[in-house]
Amino acid sequence: MKGELLLLSSVIFLLRVVCGCPTRCHCHSPSRAVDCSRQGLAEIPPDLPPQTLTLHLQDNQIHQLPAFAFRSVPHLRTLNLYNNSLSDLAPGVFHGLQHLQVLNLTQNSLHSLESRLFHSLPQLRELDLSSNNISHLPISLGKPWENLTVFAIQQNQLQQLDRELLESMPNVRLLFLKDNLWKCNCHLLSLKLWLEKFIYKGGITDSVTCVSPDTWKGKDLLKIPHELYQPCPFPSLGVGTWGVQQLGSAHRPGPGSPESPSTGQRDHSECELKPKPRPVNLRHAVATVVITGVVCGIVCLMMLAAAIYGCTYAAVTAQYNGGRLAQTDEPVKMEGKGPHDLAQA
Ligand SMILES: *[C@@H]1O[C@H](CO)[C@@H](O)[C@H](O)[C@H]1NC(C)=O
Ligand SMILES: *[C@@H]1O[C@H](CO)[C@@H](O)[C@H](O)[C@H]1NC(C)=O
Ligand SMILES: *[C@@H]1O[C@H](CO)[C@@H](O)[C@H](O)[C@H]1NC(C)=O
Ligand SMILES: *[C@@H]1O[C@H](CO)[C@@H](O)[C@H](O)[C@H]1NC(C)=O
Repeated sequence: MKGELLLLSSVIFLLRVVCGCPTRCHCHSPSRAVDCSRQGLAEIPPDLPPQTLTLHLQDNQIHQLPAFAFRSVPHLRTLNLYNNSLSDLAPGVFHGLQHLQVLNLTQNSLHSLESRLFHSLPQLRELDLSSNNISHLPISLGKPWENLTVFAIQQNQLQQLDRELLESMPNVRLLFLKDNLWKCNCHLLSLKLWLEKFIYKGGITDSVTCVSPDTWKGKDLLKIPHELYQPCPFPSLGVGTWGVQQLGSAHRPGPGSPESPSTGQRDHSECELKPKPRPVNLRHAVATVVITGVVCGIVCLMMLAAAIYGCTYAAVTAQYNGGRLAQTDEPVKMEGKGPHDLAQA
């Protein structure tokens, strides 16, 4: 009885796997690919084959995805959501996609992303976010995203990109950044430095073309000399607040340093702050050397005093002992020996 039931359920399961293809999609069984593109879909078809590896949902009108949207296709390797109307992604939306390798979100209306979103995609290799409206990315992903090799964020509204975020993608090899609203002030210097190292190590990137300030408009970030970034020549009033906060907290000025209340001046001081830790360190170093010197001096003096005392004591003792020996029985022997010694001499 139990066996028959099991058989029946597995037959139904197999039938669903083989024949279960959503009405408006084409299923290609050998490659386990499901193509639901250009169907005017507003949501994900509910009856996707659970073994699906590739899911094409491009050229539809999906504007929202619920949490666990892809829970029915846990083996998914490639997900294409190109040319939809997504403006927002719930944090849990890709939950359960442990094997997803390629995620294409090109040409949607996304405006920001959360770091939690990425944490559910440990195996991701290619992430395409180009042609969206993204103006904010997470400052950092917390833990490294080891398998990511392609990161595309071109044609968005980014003004800056935090170095920490790029550092959480240690194996990225292709990076597309062009056509954003890059604000080439001192805040972008860390991106420049990171990119130089990235290219030196063989990474491939397109251009970061400055959009503001006017002085650097149209210039390639990588071609602006470092020297021109310090001190920051343009107060950045409209920089994304996270960037300013980040810098402000990372390089808070020391209690003694004068700070002007005006925003421009403060930005200016923030930009100049980078080399500031050094003087503090230097002061520490000097203090350490002075203290060490004084302690060593004292120890040396003490040792000298001890040596002098030791020598004096030894000399006095020797003298005293000599005198004492001279007064006791030794002199007899010595007197006895004396002539011999003299004779030998
Ligand atoms: C985007 O998808 C729509 C259908 O939703 C289609 O008409 C349009 O041609 C597509 N755009 C591109 C650039 O492929
Ligand atoms: C995403 O889709 C677009 C349009 O089909 C394509 O040009 C792009 O190469 C894809 N990105 C990735 C990472 O496959
Ligand atoms: C993208 O943002 C710009 C301004 O930030 C806005 O004008 C445009 O309508 C947005 N596009 C979409 C598709 O949301
Ligand atoms: C990266 O991919 C490899 C092989 O696919 C996998 O073993 C490893 O766990 C992945 N890395 C992370 C951080 O998940």
